[in-house]
Amino acid sequence: KTIFVLNGPNLNMLGKREPGIYGTGTLDDIAADCRSAAEGLSLAVDFRQSNHEGVLVDWIQEASQKAAGIVLNAGAYTHTSIAIHDAIRAAAPLPVVEVHLSNIHAREPFRHVSKVAPHAVGMICGFGPLGYTLALQALAARI
Ligand code: DQA
Repeated sequence: KTIFVLNGPNLNMLGKREPGIYGTGTLDDIAADCRSAAEGLSLAVDFRQSNHEGVLVDWIQEASQKAAGIVLNAGAYTHTSIAIHDAIRAAAPLPVVEVHLSNIHAREPFRHVSKVAPHAVGMICGFGPLGYTLALQALAARI
């Protein structure tokens, strides 16, 4: 079974981007973590990043055909995107676990709202890259 691990805007900048908030590890490091966690769970991961909302919508639609679940860090689109919200609804019953590196509830008020959360199985935030491994474990237990 394959899990799509989908990353939204600016996550390609990890390592350079606000390291005080997001740490010094790169997205490639997170991809490597996901691959080794998936191996231990007998899952495969298809790890992707895009800065474009519509591309993320395309990938969620593709996941509904090909994947057993989605780990989604939609970056700032989390807080704004009705299109991503709708894509997750349309992919039902495909399970989606929402991940954020930072604790979005301890940050600016505009980050406290998630348009992904209402249709996610659950949300993990504030644990940095470990959140992705936790999300894969949560999906493995569910599927
Ligand atoms: C983020 C949190 C979002 O608010 C922000 O826009 C990001 C990253 C996180 O992983 O902590 O781009 O999703």
